[in-house]
Amino acid sequence: MGIWSKKSITALRAEANSSEGGLKRTLGALNLTLLGIGAIIGAGIFVLTGTAAANFAGPGVSLSFVLAGLACLFAGLCYAEFASMIPIAGSAYTYSYATMGEGVAWFIGWNLVLEYLFAAATVSVGWSGYFGALLSEVGIHIPAAFASAPLTVVNGHQVVRAFTCVDPATGGALMDAATHVAYVAREACTAAGGNVVDGLINLPAVVLILGLTMLLVRGVQESATFNNVVVAIKMTVVLLVIGFGFMYINRENWTPFIPDMVTNPDGSTKYGMSGVLRAAPVVFFSYIGFDAVSTAAQEAKNPQRDLPIGMIASLLICTVLYILMSLVMTGLAPYQQLGVPHPVSVAIGAVPQLKWLEYLVNIGATAGLSSVVLVMLMGQPRIFYTMSRDGLLPKIFSRVHPVYQTPAASTWIVGAIAIVIAGFFPLGLLGELVSGGTLAAFATVCIGVWVLRTRSPELERPFRTPLVPLVPILGAGATLYMMFQLPKLTWTLLGAWTAIGMTTYFLYGMRNSTIGKQEASRR
Ligand code: ALA
Repeated sequence: MGIWSKKSITALRAEANSSEGGLKRTLGALNLTLLGIGAIIGAGIFVLTGTAAANFAGPGVSLSFVLAGLACLFAGLCYAEFASMIPIAGSAYTYSYATMGEGVAWFIGWNLVLEYLFAAATVSVGWSGYFGALLSEVGIHIPAAFASAPLTVVNGHQVVRAFTCVDPATGGALMDAATHVAYVAREACTAAGGNVVDGLINLPAVVLILGLTMLLVRGVQESATFNNVVVAIKMTVVLLVIGFGFMYINRENWTPFIPDMVTNPDGSTKYGMSGVLRAAPVVFFSYIGFDAVSTAAQEAKNPQRDLPIGMIASLLICTVLYILMSLVMTGLAPYQQLGVPHPVSVAIGAVPQLKWLEYLVNIGATAGLSSVVLVMLMGQPRIFYTMSRDGLLPKIFSRVHPVYQTPAASTWIVGAIAIVIAGFFPLGLLGELVSGGTLAAFATVCIGVWVLRTRSPELERPFRTPLVPLVPILGAGATLYMMFQLPKLTWTLLGAWTAIGMTTYFLYGMRNSTIGKQEASRR
């Protein structure tokens, strides 16, 4: 009872098929695949690839993409089985409710907040950087105080006052001429003749989230149409980079493909095969989002067929693009130069004949990051919607707009929280927290498929994960391995997040749970 209560699959299926107070079903297989790609291609490939290559794996980062992609494929095949069986917007939360009970379901639902809400805020800050760069290329400079949050994180754990080093001549950020990177130390900025301007609020990120929230409230079809346009732009740019980039590869940059292992001054190591393994959890972030397709379950026209297609197709397409893109990037420029916030531009910039692509890359990245924020902001209210219908969150989260048929109140609440995080909080740590929460959800889904196959083999499964239990074991093993690679500080924060979550559950969720109340009335 209580924490161990499970929802019956039959009841969940009836809920999925009922249209009472429900969301509007408009999405087909193509829209779902494009939503997946919309959520997947973003800050990961446009920013983290460079860091992973420069700090851990060298050109071997392509192998890290293969490894992280395989782990996601195993997890994706498990998601597909659940999504086809239980097409409910709660995604991993609902699958855990059916297999491992309310307590685990709550824990996963709470972790999904890291995956969706925090990812939306994190990526919107990345978007703000690219958007600012795009504007400054046409001579428009956002006032520095309004382009950054008041705080930032340095050295992975130190929270300090954030500032921008402003070039007095242009009003834009003052860059180091050699590396094109903005100054990060106040003294260095002043010494180079720049003005230190403290950050107040990251206004572009706030405006982006506000605009996307309004769009999401308006309708899921409208949001999907916007997403389709954005995905077309970013796919075009990615394909141009891959197509033209391959013509100018300098094979010397790939030799050696896996650089010899080096010991850092602090005793840790980089490069070598262990570097390739260490980079896998870093690039894992770039795959996050394919599972967001499953949160559109109650808005899909034919969820049992189309959710598996949407998830697996978007994942496979992005895996191939990522492997090719990382090969191109490390082939165009020496990997040591890629540890910057805009590694794709740096790689392109290494070849004079590709100069024309640089501006397009900024447009592609700006577009790409905006659709990630959109789909993440779309997923979170739908998970809350399901949790609220189960009684674990207040009823306001499952209110559906009478005209637009979207979870409007929940969408506004999520948007407001994301605005506060993106506008005012330091984000240096959030990327790995997002990965941690997502990895926990993936591992649980993999284990859940195996549990349910053993417990209820007779249930109808429109999509069956192949090779059970091998695929779930490999999926859970690989995701748990990546989770254990996360730094200690991320684990501490994950622990604190879980503690807050479980307290909330015991104070509110457990007492208001619909199933809990039904069980109590039967006693
Ligand atoms: N996969 C998403 C990105 O890379 C979260 O931005």
